[in-house]
Formats: sequence, structure tokens, C-alpha cells
Amino acid sequence: RRYRKTIIAGNWKMNKTASETKKFAEELKRLLPRTKWCDIVVCVPAVNIPAALKAFKDLRVSVGAQNVFYEKSGAYTGEVSADMLKDLGVKYVIVGHSERRQMFGETDFSVNKKVIAALEADLHPIICVGETLDQRELGVTMELIALQVKSALAGVPAEKARRCVIAYEPVWAIGTGKTATAQQAAEVCTFIRATIRHLYGARIARSVTVQYGGSMKPSNARELLAELDIDGGLIGGASLEAEQFIEIINAAN
Ligand code: G3P
Repeated sequence: RRYRKTIIAGNWKMNKTASETKKFAEELKRLLPRTKWCDIVVCVPAVNIPAALKAFKDLRVSVGAQNVFYEKSGAYTGEVSADMLKDLGVKYVIVGHSERRQMFGETDFSVNKKVIAALEADLHPIICVGETLDQRELGVTMELIALQVKSALAGVPAEKARRCVIAYEPVWAIGTGKTATAQQAAEVCTFIRATIRHLYGARIARSVTVQYGGSMKPSNARELLAELDIDGGLIGGASLEAEQFIEIINAAN
């Protein structure tokens, strides 16, 4: 574990205005422990990134985006490039969240292009992978995860792969209150690391952060984070409340 970072990241999804972002940061500041053993990231809606960067500046909390487009610039109405994020001061970007795969036509192919674009701009992509309930019941979870991880990293050289974060988010556990058991989550996270080992070797596999996401909350965070191959969390609902988010951060300490 000492080879890699533990990262607790909030994914706010389409929640909070700029003023609410400021309020959240003030609350977090009051509650934040002095010593932190994990990195903290908050992924906010694109339009609130400047407000978040300003609000979290003194807290040693990094700001992340929730999506990025893979082209450098041009006629892509409504899209945001990796360079634009980097220039603002963004450090992380979520790529391939299941909500984007399900509702916005994200595919393994576009995820791969986005990962490459993010890395080129020196951002850290948080690559989301995960199976649906049907796929789990069919017994194809591991095949699917391998496919998603390998396609996301296609053409990514080793020295860049080590800057990626992989988030295992079983789709059936997202926003449902249903959490994967620590054992189920660990099994897949260990498998993800093995997949990276096959692609890049043991040294890189050891240094990549693999998070769990899906109804992670104060009551289950400690058990999940105690697993050796779970190096943090990507947290939706519980990251919207400063108190709950802090409890999860403390569970990682
Ligand atoms: O990206 C985080 C996520 O999808 C989990 O959401 O609300 O189940 O914690 P939630």
C-alpha cells in the first residue's frame, strides 16, 4: 500500500451551485483533520470549477472535473477540453462514469480517447469501470472489467499508466444504497490490479490507485478501505454532506 496513494474523491454529479460550493468548503475547513493520510479530491460540475478552486485552495483538497472531451479544440459545441481544465488548475478528471456510459453514449472507445487526452494534458484520469446487475448474475463480471480496463488503457504507455486511477463502481451499487460487500469489492479491485500487472508489470500495478465506488458511506467505509487492494473511494451521495465526507476521510486515516 505504501507504493500508492489512498485517494478519497467526491463525485458531486449535477449537484451544488457555486455558492453552495463555497459553503461546503467552509464546513469542510472546520472539520478537516490536521494530518491526512489520504489525498482528497472533489469533482464538481464544470461550471463550478473556478469557484471550487478558489474555495478549496487553502484546504489541500484537489479539484476534479467529471468529464472531458478528447479533441484539443474546435467546433464541438458544449464540450470542454483537457487543456482548458489543466489551465484552470484542475488535477483529476473522471472518465467513463457509468452514468455517462448509460445516458450520454460513452463507449470504451471514447473512454480510451478521453484517457489519452487527459494524460496528454497532465491530468490524472479517474477511470470508472463496473458491471450491471445482469452482468454480475450472468457471471461475466471479470471478463467485462478486463475489457473495460484494457480498452481504457489501450495505447497508454507505462509511464503514463501509473498516473491513472481506476475506480471500480458496480452499477447496481450506485445511488441504490446497496453496497458491494468488502469481499466482493476487494475481489474485483484485486483483479483490476492483476489486469494492470499483465499489461504493465508488477511495478506499475503496485503504484496505481484502485478505488471503490457505490453507496460508500461512513457506516461501511472503514471495512471497505481496510482491504489491501482498495486504495480509496469515489463517493457520490455521501460526498455532498461535509460531515459524512469527513467521516469517510477519517476512515481512510
Ligand atoms: O462516482 C460515484 C458514484 O457513482 C457512487 O455514487 O451515490 O452511490 O455514492 P453513490
